Amino acid sequence: MSVLPVTEPGAVRTALRRRYLMCRPEHFAVTYAINPWMDPAAGADAGKAVEQWEALRAAYLALGHEVSLIDPIEGLPDMVFAANGALVVGGRAYGARFAHPERYAEGPAYAKWLRQNGVSEVLDAEYTNEGEGDFLTLDHVILAGTGFRTEVAAHQEAQEFLGRPVVTLRLVDPRFYHLDTALFPLGGGNVAYYPGAFSPGSRAVLERLFPDAILAGEQDAAVLGLNAVCDGRNVVINAEAVGLTATLRRHGYEPVPVDMSELRKAGGGPKCCTLELR
Ligand code: ARG
Repeated sequence: MSVLPVTEPGAVRTALRRRYLMCRPEHFAVTYAINPWMDPAAGADAGKAVEQWEALRAAYLALGHEVSLIDPIEGLPDMVFAANGALVVGGRAYGARFAHPERYAEGPAYAKWLRQNGVSEVLDAEYTNEGEGDFLTLDHVILAGTGFRTEVAAHQEAQEFLGRPVVTLRLVDPRFYHLDTALFPLGGGNVAYYPGAFSPGSRAVLERLFPDAILAGEQDAAVLGLNAVCDGRNVVINAEAVGLTATLRRHGYEPVPVDMSELRKAGGGPKCCTLELR
């Protein structure tokens, strides 16, 4: 596995056009708690969530990306978190198999959409995995989280199906229950992450693979600042992550702040709402 080009502060970054799949949060609610962010007693406002989600979608369109939509299903309040629906790489989709019964039905719904929209090879996974929530794809490697949701056996299953090397990373802080709450790819073979979310061994792996990574502090992580989407240049990121936003700017990236405060009540941010179709 090669360690890819170094990121230098102030370097010129190039954006690549992306294809995203999103799901309008019409049925969004916090009615159960499957992560520490969720408080059913406090609830959430679907109308406000839709407004914030529309702004996210508009931000992608303004950046020149393509956004496809999957119909939301009543009774699946977390379906807005499209990232969890699958892992799509090289035109093949590794289907999600959710850890919690509240979300089981989302896996087949996303698989069906993918089959109907030109992805001919969709694998119904044997092992528990929550799609791009726990699988983040770089050019030469796929980083995979485990510890709370996705099983290590799923990492191996995905590697075999996709023919790409998958590196297991262990998550240890329940606030960062999916890999995409603690790390995001920057393009150019680099990543940004919050070290405190990972086991000591996984931290050492990240240091070895990404000696030039952008490291985020706890304050930025605690507002889900790592749940960001980078197209190689622009970084769509929670507006509250001010420290990380400034760091990204210093490194030549163009932050695009968004307000996802309502969706954060379910433990989600911009990346959770976004499945990339590669
Ligand atoms: N409430 C959802 C859950 O706990 C949030 C999922 C967020 N998605 C993500 N890709 N991190 O499953």
